[in-house]
Amino acid sequence: MRLPSIRAIASVLATSCLLVSAHAADVQAGKAVAQAKCGQCHAAGDWEGEDAPSLDSLMRDIVAGKVKHRTKLELTPTEIANIAAYWASGGK
Ligand code: HEC
Repeated sequence: MRLPSIRAIASVLATSCLLVSAHAADVQAGKAVAQAKCGQCHAAGDWEGEDAPSLDSLMRDIVAGKVKHRTKLELTPTEIANIAAYWASGGK
């Protein structure tokens, strides 16, 4: 029997890391960033009914310049995921 290639193992590992990180968003860290950078104009309660994945992709599009925003947003993917988790939680 041939052993699975390193490449196949690496890709399985990479996929599971991605899945884990998607669930590991840090609501408290998101709260801190959102309050510092976005709180002047947005409150967590403004995003009622929005889920984390759609907020996440919206913020990515803003950062990438694909969606217009009042100010230029500079956020790391981790900050985006954390803010999305915080806003989707309704700010509790
Ligand atoms: C100077 C004010 C201001 C700041 C600061 C600000 N925003 Fe906004 N943002 C707005 C306005 C105005 C809109 C458009 C009206 C609305 O949807 O409330 C908006 C809309 C958005 C939208 C929805 C875009 C759409 O097309 O539906 C997202 C997502 C967003 N902002 C994210 C952020 C994030 C993340 C931060 C902090 C890193 C931030 N904003 C900081 C003013 C601001």
